Amino acid sequence: MILPIRKYGDPVLREPARPVGCITPEIVQLAQDMLETMHKAKGVGIAAEQVGRLERICVIDIPDGCDKGEQAAFNAPIPMPLAMVNPEIISLEGSENDKEGCLSFPGIGGSVVRAAKVVCTYIDLAGRRQTISAAGFLARAIQHETDHLDGRLYVDRMSAVERLAFAPKLKKLSRANGGVR
Ligand code: NI
Repeated sequence: MILPIRKYGDPVLREPARPVGCITPEIVQLAQDMLETMHKAKGVGIAAEQVGRLERICVIDIPDGCDKGEQAAFNAPIPMPLAMVNPEIISLEGSENDKEGCLSFPGIGGSVVRAAKVVCTYIDLAGRRQTISAAGFLARAIQHETDHLDGRLYVDRMSAVERLAFAPKLKKLSRANGGVR
């Protein structure tokens, strides 16, 4: 089922998510609905808050070719799409500045400095505990989505100069969706 995507200004985007106790059929369905919603919107990741929910769940599906060379090889063992329940980043390494976008910010995309590699733990939809190491664009997506689950948005991490450049657009978007910044 396609769910409505919450946009910047909606107070739910600033709520921290709550850890999921166990993988129920409802949780599996929510993850499937999030994937369907994300694919329809042509996104590469979405977090529960973005569909108005507070379970600590995000889904990611990075198309082939987004990561190249060494980073693609590094990420190769990680199956896509990823549905992560209770994801936690347990280590961060290096840093990279790159463009980022977000389904809750239509028409806005800016540069964000993120760690180049992450190690992340999560529970998969079969209830198994997983630990993955990711690099490049996938590492960026994991950081972006776990930020959402902590109520943090990528505009918070943009440079002051870029945030200033987007200020009128951000103000307009926020006002149209509930007014929370
Ligand atoms: Ni996002």
